[in-house]
Amino acid sequence: MFRIAVIPGDGIGPEVVGSAIEVLNALEENFGLRFETERFDIGSERYLKNGTLVTEEEFLSLEAYDTILFGAIGDPRVQPGVLEKGVLLAMRARFDQYINLRPCRSWHPFVPLKGDADFDIHFIRENTEDFYMGAGGRLSPDARKATLSVERRLYRADIDVTMTTGSDDEFAFEMGLLSRKGVERFADYVFRFAAARGEDRITLVDKANVCSSIYGFQRELFQAKAEEHGMGLDFMFVDAMAMALVRNPWDYHTVAVPNLFGDILTDLGAQVSGGLGLAASGNINPEGVSMFEPVHGSAPDIAGKGIANPFAAILATAMMLEQLGRSDLSETVTLGVRRSMDDGITTGDMGGSANTATVTKAVIDRMLDR
Ligand code: NAD
Ligand code: IPM
Ligand code: MN
Repeated sequence: MFRIAVIPGDGIGPEVVGSAIEVLNALEENFGLRFETERFDIGSERYLKNGTLVTEEEFLSLEAYDTILFGAIGDPRVQPGVLEKGVLLAMRARFDQYINLRPCRSWHPFVPLKGDADFDIHFIRENTEDFYMGAGGRLSPDARKATLSVERRLYRADIDVTMTTGSDDEFAFEMGLLSRKGVERFADYVFRFAAARGEDRITLVDKANVCSSIYGFQRELFQAKAEEHGMGLDFMFVDAMAMALVRNPWDYHTVAVPNLFGDILTDLGAQVSGGLGLAASGNINPEGVSMFEPVHGSAPDIAGKGIANPFAAILATAMMLEQLGRSDLSETVTLGVRRSMDDGITTGDMGGSANTATVTKAVIDRMLDR
């Protein structure tokens, strides 16, 4: 019996999570999966009503589940960053989900590139550090000091920033931070992941030619870990990686990427693989509770219309099943998605004319058709 916490969230989140739950119900009826869900009312509606993001009680409760299924967060009525940082990033940090696994495989014929070569990249995005620390501020002419504090499972840090300048200008800054322990555990995960897939080298993406302090440090630590694991290591600058994703994605396999660049590259990777509406991800804490979600956001432009592509949420559910030790069911779900695509049953973003409900039903029918 799996205990699954469900956070539908905002916009199309509840619509695509609804599809994922239908898929789980079908697995329960036909394949003997046993699970129970509890829904958490976290999101913009509640925030707009009473200012609550995630309560301490919810954090404690969520952590006791076997896994978390998350829809999306973000609402145009709320200033950017409030919900994103206050809910999603807060959970990734609090549950120390330091790995964000984002598979990027070719879903032909939806790949918008020349040629029909297959690719199967695993982006492993570091999920707790880098420019996502929330360590930023403003320095105005009458306040040239800022005190920041950041809290992670690995450490708590208070940082004082003082600026001396002859200028009367106003400044804003955002600090990127990497810790030795944070990079080392990330590297260990990446090398083990690649080795388990039979690969003998990985690619590390950065911008060490400009942000040399943090990414030079990251290179050194990855180099040492590569030797420890007996694995090869290739470095790639993020701008070149963006180009390579469009030109020759088939040359890449396991790709480690720091948090901010990972966010950007995986939207690009999603589109290159067939569309943002089918990219899934797992926020993983190998020793704790993990959280599975689509890569896409709350898509306010199409929310409430019943036309959101449910593939990403369904494939996130497949990733969740795999992590729960049911790779058999994970494959069954993925096959249902593949067959729906083969039969041309897709939503508008993939060129089809079906709605969310029709696509969900198509996946379930095809998944059961053994
Ligand atoms: P978005 O991913 O929500 O949407 C980008 C574009 O892709 C939109 O045109 C949208 O309609 C389309 N799209 C996304 N998912 C789709 C789906 N399943 N089916 C069909 N079309 C889909 O990104 P955005 O518009 O930049 O952000 C909207 C809000 O979501 C913001 O508040 C942002 O902060 C938030 N966001 C949240 C997450 C998350 O919860 N993980 C991720 C990204 C963005
Ligand atoms: C994602 C999203 C989040 C991120 C936002 C909503 C905080 O874009 O999951 O890719 O930047 O990680
Ligand atoms: Mn993103």
